[in-house]
Amino acid sequence: MSVLELRHVTKRYGSFLAVDNISFAVEKGQILSLLGPSGCGKTTTLRLISGFEDANEGAVMFSGVDMKGRRPYERNVGLLFQDYALFPHMTVVENIAYGLKRRNFDKAKIPDRVAEMLSLVKLKGFDNRRPGQLSGGQQQRVALARALATNPEVVLLDEPLSALDAKLRHELRFELKAILSAVNATTIVVTHDQEEAMSLGDSVVVMSAGKIMQEGAPTEIYADPRTRFVAEFIGRSNWFTGELGKATKGVAELKAVGGIRMFVAVPESSRNAGAFDVCVRPERIRIGSALPPSDAGPVNEMRGTIRDVAHLGADLHLVIEIPGGQLLTVTEKYVGQGLERSGQEVSITFFPQDCIVVPSGS
Ligand SMILES: Nc1ncnc2c1ncn2[C@@H]1O[C@H](COP(=O)(O)OP(=O)(O)OP(=O)(O)O)[C@@H](O)[C@H]1O
Ligand SMILES: [Mg+2]
Repeated sequence: MSVLELRHVTKRYGSFLAVDNISFAVEKGQILSLLGPSGCGKTTTLRLISGFEDANEGAVMFSGVDMKGRRPYERNVGLLFQDYALFPHMTVVENIAYGLKRRNFDKAKIPDRVAEMLSLVKLKGFDNRRPGQLSGGQQQRVALARALATNPEVVLLDEPLSALDAKLRHELRFELKAILSAVNATTIVVTHDQEEAMSLGDSVVVMSAGKIMQEGAPTEIYADPRTRFVAEFIGRSNWFTGELGKATKGVAELKAVGGIRMFVAVPESSRNAGAFDVCVRPERIRIGSALPPSDAGPVNEMRGTIRDVAHLGADLHLVIEIPGGQLLTVTEKYVGQGLERSGQEVSITFFPQDCIVVPSGS
């Protein structure tokens, strides 16, 4: 049985549908990332789970028990709000002990539990500081310790890293994952950062306008997005739009806008004629025709002109103009090649299997 399950949950504010018939489940010790643009209903979903809002339809189940009618303090949830909301007048210890006191945790055991939490989030010795005397990263860890202190059945983290600068955010991401794993927490992490969602989550749910667009393992969502929205939201992409010809051995020709013709591997579901959007990830495109031999059939090869080269640490980002004027983004590992420069003519290649086909405009 899943520790947490949402069944067809809908939430309206007046006539506005903030959450529209969503269902998903989280298993013991798993992390589910809830990802989507601002206003798509992520925080509302957490509020429905924690009991701060009531669903208009559907059910929120904790280990098979319907939470309908239960107030937030009657649900065994650890919550980290979007803005942390530490109590500024309380010390670190008091902040962490807050939930324990509210839930009538054995008073004599509170100091030990708080010490355990401080050690978990690496803040031993910070006991008597107030939030104003802590860095952003330290505040974030206090908030996490407070959320985990009651050993909650379900941990809900709303943008846990968003208040931090990029470098710290990156470091704490791994720490957060390690801490959650150490206590085997069943967790939902809300973020609008796709990289964060992918690196934290065992599974990822992508939302848009209150609806779930897709759910799956991070690699699955990246490699096999079902819609253009999901493909664009997760990672960079180059797009071609056009009509698909008849497939032979699972490969069809796309006559794309701009006069481009290319071979794409077509999944069973998109063998119907009609308009399709085709995505090729930047790292799937190779510069130069040095493709390994393939028995998979045709290879796509195009001429192009390099329009921009950017060295981003370990990666080389290139912008390449192809016939018809379309600009493609291509990424390569930077291993000191340094040969490519703006204005240079190159040949680019990619396999039909590197093409992701989705319904046009999806
Ligand atoms: N109490 C409310 N009354 C009316 N509308 C609300 C209320 N709370 C949220 N909404 C609306 O519901 C939608 C979803 O809000 P929500 O806070 O869940 O978004 P979010 O995905 O968390 O966005 P963000 O990434 O910006 O935090 C928004 O359009 C918001 O304006
Ligand atoms: Mg939010």
